[in-house]
Amino acid sequence: MIDTPAEDRHAVDPHAGDRHAEQRHAVDRHAEDRLKERIAAELTAVRRRSGGLTTEVLDEQELVRQHSPLMSPLVWDLAHVGNYEELWLLREAAGIEPMRPEIDDLYDAFEHPRAERVTLPLLTPGEATGYIDQVRRKVLDSLERVRFTPDTPLLAGGFVYGMVVQHEHMHDETMLATHQLRKGDPVLRAAEPPEATAVPPAETLIPEGPFTMGTSDDPWAYDNERPGHTRHLDAYLIDTTPVTNAQFQDFMEAGGYETPEYWTRAGREWLERTGKRHPANWVRDGDGWAVRVFGRPQPLRPDRPVQHVCWYEADAYARWAGKRLPTEAEWEKAAAWDPVTRHARRYPWGDEEPDPAQANLGQHHLGPAAAGAYPSGASAYGVQQLLGDVWEWTATSFDGYPGFRSFPYREYSEVFFGDGYKVLRGGSWATHPLACRNTFRNWDLPIRRQIFAGFRCARDAHETSRA
Ligand code: AVJ
Ligand code: FE
Repeated sequence: MIDTPAEDRHAVDPHAGDRHAEQRHAVDRHAEDRLKERIAAELTAVRRRSGGLTTEVLDEQELVRQHSPLMSPLVWDLAHVGNYEELWLLREAAGIEPMRPEIDDLYDAFEHPRAERVTLPLLTPGEATGYIDQVRRKVLDSLERVRFTPDTPLLAGGFVYGMVVQHEHMHDETMLATHQLRKGDPVLRAAEPPEATAVPPAETLIPEGPFTMGTSDDPWAYDNERPGHTRHLDAYLIDTTPVTNAQFQDFMEAGGYETPEYWTRAGREWLERTGKRHPANWVRDGDGWAVRVFGRPQPLRPDRPVQHVCWYEADAYARWAGKRLPTEAEWEKAAAWDPVTRHARRYPWGDEEPDPAQANLGQHHLGPAAAGAYPSGASAYGVQQLLGDVWEWTATSFDGYPGFRSFPYREYSEVFFGDGYKVLRGGSWATHPLACRNTFRNWDLPIRRQIFAGFRCARDAHETSRA
């Protein structure tokens, strides 16, 4: 904390300028130390979480097995997060020599597709644990010496440490998706998510006008969230909560999967190729439905957001409902813009860190909560459950914002830009708060259903605003 505003002393004391610089230096050191303590604590916390999804709950065989061709063996994710940490925090940030350069290729996500990783000479679970522990000891040791110099972009504000912590959290969510696909005795459990106390209005009107999309001043934001820029949107209506299982069942019962007009050409091709007629993990139960949740069959809960639908299914539902998917700009304005202060909030409720009462984030539960369960997490406009519960498919293909500059490596975002990938927003119940904010952008192929994704709909408000 700066507690001495020294502004007016400059004029009367010829050495005040120097002293001020010294003092600022000391203040920066103090802030840097506090940030380092926070980083060390977050590194420890995320590793505890990774352990709880791997070595603490599954035996050797389960860790090396390929549970799905869509996913890596869990032991790959574990060694990969350690190798990424070594690359960025030891070699790049601290200038430390490579520990095991011969394994880099094995854990380079671009060298080997997920389906093929099980065939590689990977580190065993014991070796992987030994390696990531050793990396971590060196990271915590070198963290004390590294300086977060403001003119070194990789280190300013501890950026590269934030990148590595977020990376491991993202892999933890990926590992959870692997757990959901895994057959065998259930190993994960958590408390049931909360119920809704009131039914929110179906839609919320967002009046026309400008807002600030993305960020230029969040020190741990990714390159794809930058730079912050102004967008002007026409008025639109957006669903107040994500689409529920009951609503999706209405679509199914109305023949949604069998009506070609609701589907894009690529969506029809996906339908024909896969023959899918319901979201992933749904299983017939008499004349109703049950869901398989981490190996446990559960009754389908009508009031909870639908998840494990692909972009084509979301898009078809929206057309059936007489609506469309929101663009990612529409999603972000509904989440972030405060029309009174004309300021973009970091989270829907404001700038304060997520509280478990405001959003279903961080794997406190093993699925989304009922629509309407988090009224205190509403945005300035009153839109609910934007962060947490389910990732939300948007109409938008993943691309860079105007003025985008790749940083610190093209393979994080830029190589995925283009028509192939659709943007998802808001994080899921499985997303850690550190990897979730109004500006955070996720992306995946429109055929993917293993991620914890659902959607909400939107529509133009022209007719409504004229009425
Ligand atoms: C941002 C979730 C799409 O999992 O492919 C992990 C995150 N990048 N390792 C992914 C990521 C490098 C990425 N997503
Ligand atoms: Fe990765």
